[in-house]
Order: sequence, then C-alpha cells, then structure tokens
Amino acid sequence: MFVRIPYRLHIYDLLKTIGIVTLIVYLALPFRFASHYDYIDGAHIEGALLPQVTLNVSLQQTFECSYTDIIANNRFVYSSAYYHETVHHAEEIWPGGEFRPEQCQARYSTAIIVPYRQREEQLRAFLTYMHNYLRQQLIHYRIFLVEQYDQKPFNRAMLLNIGAKVAAEYGFPCLILHDVDLMPLNSGQMYACVETPRHMCPALDHWRFHLPYQGLFGGVVAITTLQFKQINGMSNVYHGWGGEDDDLYVRIMDEGIGICRFAPEYSEYTMLKHKPENPNEHRRALLQAAKLRRFMDGLSSLVYKEVERRMHSLFTHILVET
Ligand SMILES: *[C@@H]1O[C@H](CO)[C@@H](O)[C@H](O)[C@H]1NC(C)=O
Repeated sequence: MFVRIPYRLHIYDLLKTIGIVTLIVYLALPFRFASHYDYIDGAHIEGALLPQVTLNVSLQQTFECSYTDIIANNRFVYSSAYYHETVHHAEEIWPGGEFRPEQCQARYSTAIIVPYRQREEQLRAFLTYMHNYLRQQLIHYRIFLVEQYDQKPFNRAMLLNIGAKVAAEYGFPCLILHDVDLMPLNSGQMYACVETPRHMCPALDHWRFHLPYQGLFGGVVAITTLQFKQINGMSNVYHGWGGEDDDLYVRIMDEGIGICRFAPEYSEYTMLKHKPENPNEHRRALLQAAKLRRFMDGLSSLVYKEVERRMHSLFTHILVET
C-alpha cells in the first residue's frame, strides 16, 4: 500500500509536465489559428466554376466534357507513381505546354503561371506531375514559366504580373498563380476560376494541413484575368521573400471582391523541400502602405525586358530582366 503513493505522485507529476509542455507547444505554434475556414463543399464546386474558354478553343467539339464525375470522384492521387514517373502520352501536349481534350469540348481555359529561378530539380518534378495531373481534369490549359534572368533579388510578384500579361495576350480568361514547389494532392481540385479569387492551397502539408491565418493568400491562387486587371495586378516593389501575397490580399479586399476556398479534402497540397529564401526586410513597411500604392504600382507600372520567349515541349518559357 505504501509503495503506491510515490508511484501515484510520479504519475501526477508526469501528467502535469505533459500538460504544461502541450500548452506551451500549442501556444507557440502559429497553425492553431484559422484551422477552420469558410469553403465551397464538393457538391457546390461545379456550380461555382466559371465556364469560360479562349476563342480558338470554343466550338471545336460537339459534346462538352463532363466534370461532375471528376469532382465527385475526388481522391488522393499524389501517392500514385503514375503521376510522377514520366509524362505519359507526351504527344498530347502541344509545344508551349498546352493541352486541350480531343474527345470533348473543354469548358475551362486556364493559364498556369509559374514564377521561377534556379530550381531545376523541382521544375522537372513539377512539370511531370502537373501534366499528368491536369490532363485527367479535361480542361484546356497552358503552363507559362516566367524566369528572372537578372541576379537581383527574386521578384515573385513582378514575374506573376508579366505572366498574367502574356497569358491575357493569348486570350486566357483564368489565371492560376502557382509556386513551382507546390503540388496538388486531390484529383478533384479543379484548375479553373470561380466568382471570386480563390486560395487553392489552404491544406498544405508544410502547415500540417491547417491554414495559419485567414488572410493567407499565397502559394496557389486562381483569379480571373479581368479581376487581376481590376486590382492592377500585384505590386512590383517586393524584392526577396515575403509580403507580396499579403499585398495581393489587401488589393482584393480593398476592391471589395472577396476570396473563397474549396473544402479541405479538395485543397491538400505538398511543398517540395528547398533552402529558405532570403526574407525581404522591408516587407512589413511596404505592406502598411499597400492600399495607398495599389493604383500606381502594379500592371500600370510594369517595366521589364523580355530576353527570350521559347516554346518548350512542356511549357512556354518567358525569360525576363526585371
Ligand atoms: C490558340 O491561339 C494561340 C495564339 O495564336 C496559340 O498559341 C494556341 O496554341 C492556340 N490554342 C489552341 C488550342 O488552338
């Protein structure tokens, strides 16, 4: 009997310690916030998507593709080697990284714009996976890779502005601004636009599939070309890592447009590992003046030099000096 008392005390101490440690970890971690967010559930995704295609893709086939099953049969596909191995039936993809289904009329045309510099290994993985993944959605799409040629700090937002401008010239009504290190895990995550700009990767493995804060609007974002022009695109003054996506969010909210997301089971993404980028020390100050700047800083003030445009077999390569 007497032996049990210290044993019990020991258990209490242990539980207390575990409790305190858990509390500290919980308070210290940012991803406890906003793990729940408003979303469009699976049953309402198709109705929310905006049917819009480029002119030269419209009315080529009699029968429209059906998207109902693709959305309803949403499943985790990232683990399948099929998507990673090689680009299957590469002959289906046109030079410039463009695809449209042959058997039916696509209902959505999407330009996927990828800002890029020196990430060869990730780029190869991204292109293989994305071409296999996107074709099963039966959409018309084209991948635009905008590469910063100069040695200045990486200007992600400016590269996205350039990509958007080029994609608009090709007639694309919907833009998806896409980091090269992110890959979608769910087959039903439709690469198309809806009524309001859409944050596509709220369930990122890097954040343990939780959304760190409601205003997070980076990584993968879908926005119509019209809306992108309406908000004057993104800011050109963020050099180095961070801030430009929060600035985009400010623009969208200040314009009164609003944002949306799909249900978590459609919005899972994985982040490929890489060295962290150098953060931009001025990002907070820049963000504070985001509203004041937005009309004069963006598509309206975009100055760059296009060094080269090349039709690669898997993407349209736009090489620029910022
Ligand atoms: C549509 O026209 C653009 C520009 O001329 C061309 O690059 C693209 O390949 C065409 N797409 C289709 C699906 O015909």
